[in-house]
Amino acid sequence: MTKNIAVIRGDGIGPEIVNEALRVLDKIAELYGHTFHYTDVDMGGCAIDKWGDPLPQEMLDKCVASDSVLLGAVGGDKWNDVPGPKRPEKGLLRLRAGMGVYSNNRPAKIWPQLSDASPLKKSIVEKGIDFIIVRELIGGIYFGEHKTDDADGQPVATDIMKYSEAEIERIGRIGFETARKRNHRLCSVEKSNVLDTSRLWKKVMHRLAEEYTDVELTDMLVDNCAMQIVKNPAQFDVIVTENMFGDILSDEASMITGSIGMIPSSSLGATSCGLYEPIHGSAPDIAGQDLANPIGTILSAAMMLRYSFDMAKEADAVEHAVSKYLDAGYRTADIMEDGMTKVGCKKCGDLILEYLTKE
Ligand code: NAD
Ligand code: IPM
Ligand code: MN
Repeated sequence: MTKNIAVIRGDGIGPEIVNEALRVLDKIAELYGHTFHYTDVDMGGCAIDKWGDPLPQEMLDKCVASDSVLLGAVGGDKWNDVPGPKRPEKGLLRLRAGMGVYSNNRPAKIWPQLSDASPLKKSIVEKGIDFIIVRELIGGIYFGEHKTDDADGQPVATDIMKYSEAEIERIGRIGFETARKRNHRLCSVEKSNVLDTSRLWKKVMHRLAEEYTDVELTDMLVDNCAMQIVKNPAQFDVIVTENMFGDILSDEASMITGSIGMIPSSSLGATSCGLYEPIHGSAPDIAGQDLANPIGTILSAAMMLRYSFDMAKEADAVEHAVSKYLDAGYRTADIMEDGMTKVGCKKCGDLILEYLTKE
């Protein structure tokens, strides 16, 4: 098969981790007889520096015209004083909205090889950590009105959180469908004791539950959920939640699996053109030092193969190569433990390539 992939390296560790993921895709192409064409897209701080805009329209057009998009990460201190609408992160939000990718799938699954890398007690880890956060990605407070006015002689800032019934229903359906393919348990996470958006959210989820009678729906307030994720993560199968709650809970969920550097994500909408990115950021503290863990990005590329290109065997091959690399005891600094062999970003990529074979 021939596929056109838009590639956004971005800022900070973005170029380093994307580089490793592209080498993996190249090897998959070679092993399985595919052709992947890459189109470079500027987004984030580097696009601000080059074009004065974190996502120029022609860059967005390239992404929408592609078969899928692979992204590293954007942002960094250099652009902290850029006004809100021009920040690097705004480019990412415009990309997600422009691609219409409302459903962000963030797995929290511990690799058996990393059970000691989790900060949780062994007795909790042993019960299992394997759940998915389905995060609504193009609505809510991220996309409501943002402004800072002068009132009564002082700045007053406003961020609006807004959800329509239709927006909730489409992500709710993804939550139920995802649970249906797994252990049939869906936990809807909101703050219905305070927020109107959450009360509507809960109502829609329960209406959908009447259709998905094979899925057990539970409700959980987001503050309790943050606590339950560390107390008893084994209770979760699929979590469905709104944009900002999903952002925060997915960082927490990633850490209990060992490191945020391990976690990939897929973002999909109405078409098969998806956005694939690790859930972490541009990690300015380790950028340019060959210290980053590229596995979250490599596994994001595997998700692209599986969910957008229908290449399940190829995706399995990538995941197995990562597993063999972990079996052999190699670790980047973020998951380093006694007795393991420490490697940098590039060496990690080299080794995963060595373990990558046609299955
Ligand atoms: P971050 O995720 O970049 O880093 C948090 C911590 O995790 C840091 O200590 C970092 O070194 C570590 N870390 C992250 N990824 C790692 C990896 N692959 N390997 C090893 N360690 C890793 O979050 P932050 O520091 O809060 O944000 C930095 C910048 O990234 C900000 O500008 C933020 O807006 C941006 N950001 C971008 C994205 C994205 O592009 N999708 C996501 C999150 C944050
Ligand atoms: C993420 C990031 C982004 C988000 C930022 C950079 C806009 O934190 O992908 O998790 O909040 O969605
Ligand atoms: Mn985040």
